[in-house]
Amino acid sequence: MSLTFNTVGVIGAGTMGAGIAQVAAQAGCAVKLYDARDGAATAAIAKTGDTLAALAAKGKLTAEAAAATVARMKAAVDLADFHDCDLVIEAIVEDLGAKQALFKSLEGICSETTVLGTNTSSISITAIANGLARPHNVVGMHFFNPAPLMPLVEVVRGHLTAPEAAQRVADAALEWKKTPVPCKSTPGFIANRVARPYYGEAFRALESGAADVATIDLVMREAGGFKLGPFELLDLIGLDVNLMVTKSVWNAYYQDSRYRPSLTQEEMVAGGLFGRKNGRGFYRYPEGVPAAPASPDGPKPTMVQVLTESGALAPLVERIKAAGIKVQSRKEEDPFGAGMLRAGNATICLTDGRTATQVAFEDEVPNAVTLDLSRNFATTKRVALAKGDLTTDAALKDAVGLFRALGIDVSVVDDVPGLIAARTIAMLANEAADAVVQGVADAAGVDTAMKLGLGHPEGPLATADRIGLTLINAILVNLQAHTGDDRYRQSILLQRKGWADGRFL
Ligand code: NAI
Repeated sequence: MSLTFNTVGVIGAGTMGAGIAQVAAQAGCAVKLYDARDGAATAAIAKTGDTLAALAAKGKLTAEAAAATVARMKAAVDLADFHDCDLVIEAIVEDLGAKQALFKSLEGICSETTVLGTNTSSISITAIANGLARPHNVVGMHFFNPAPLMPLVEVVRGHLTAPEAAQRVADAALEWKKTPVPCKSTPGFIANRVARPYYGEAFRALESGAADVATIDLVMREAGGFKLGPFELLDLIGLDVNLMVTKSVWNAYYQDSRYRPSLTQEEMVAGGLFGRKNGRGFYRYPEGVPAAPASPDGPKPTMVQVLTESGALAPLVERIKAAGIKVQSRKEEDPFGAGMLRAGNATICLTDGRTATQVAFEDEVPNAVTLDLSRNFATTKRVALAKGDLTTDAALKDAVGLFRALGIDVSVVDDVPGLIAARTIAMLANEAADAVVQGVADAAGVDTAMKLGLGHPEGPLATADRIGLTLINAILVNLQAHTGDDRYRQSILLQRKGWADGRFL
């Protein structure tokens, strides 16, 4: 089989370098691995051998393939060993000066066509190439941890990167059984930038008293449809590591409020509450996330009135009918794509970013209860509800009773704008749209990066298309009006697509 790069050098035999070396060797490349620490490259190769042998013992690959992979990996004695490499990928310390100095040395050793790949997660590719004789050879090749398992590689172009060099890196990523997504060098590239609202909105929900940590995680998992709630994910990543990334993106964007870090996180990091790795973050370990509390209950309604309809709410209405509850519809479309139901004394309003108290006042509806967005109302196991200040407890019970009759658990949260999942889903789409506007990647690329790099169940733009851009835009506009925070300003692309009733994908 002919490969784009036959001989690949990897510099830095730490977490990422060792994994990248394994990936290249498994694809059939001859790999040379080097580390400034004596013995580190040899130890990393031996460890890869053990890992692959264990996988072979479990039948995940053949013993021959495991042995052949390790046989293709050699520890390099010094940088001069890289003279015959077609591609060298650095995964050394995250320091601009160190990376520039390394590439400068390699230019004196490697051929004129050797591609210099960098696995940096936060440094500008253009800056790393600065001062080199052949800056066009520098390409970001951003793997995700653990490199052998995570399918995404962001192929990052700096200002002077040659398109052919980026293309060769993308071709190689495919040969290495990865999914390359081309992107432009900008702070956080795609995944680390578009993911910021996942944490940022969770902190804002927490700090505005929407609910406690465990409830926010529960709602994000079971209503939002994300694999891990934001706080359990922060505990896994490490609050310190995550804060560093947030600050790096925030500072790089001239302290744009979109990326503003949270005081809660700062305080916890200052107190050494890093998460799983030292036993305490948002949760204590080994106990971890507590079991979900029992759902509240309420009476099953005999009839539900659909006061205003929307595409987002339609699957829920179908589910109500399927549960044998009579549905009466006024056949009026909700102008903001939200939708409103009446069950018993409750007026249940899918959130458009306003509080229930505000909806009751402005829309003159009695006993308003807002319903947080769920990823998919046809299948959701949980919803979050909030009652307005003038809504009676009995009306809230009526709203709860409807969902319980559908077999759906309920979390009752406080009446904050944008609730929990809605604000996050809207802001992920907003950030993704801005990344597209700024030419970081195209819409399909952004969605792919979020699915494969971060394990999101669906790309944020596909979600926005499905839920409806009118509603996503309304949530953002109302959040901005409520909070006065510029972080909620709409992406011009989201606005334009919304007005044109267009779609991203
Ligand atoms: P690490 O600390 O596990 O490994 C770095 C290795 O590089 C160490 O073994 C160190 O001895 C060696 N090293 C440092 N300076 C060197 C030099 N000048 N020459 C040769 N070897 C040198 O770090 P990790 O986590 O593997 O990160 C490496 C790079 O990958 C960084 O740029 C990081 O930002 C990036 N990255 C890290 C991810 C992660 O989740 N850990 C994910 C994606 C990118």
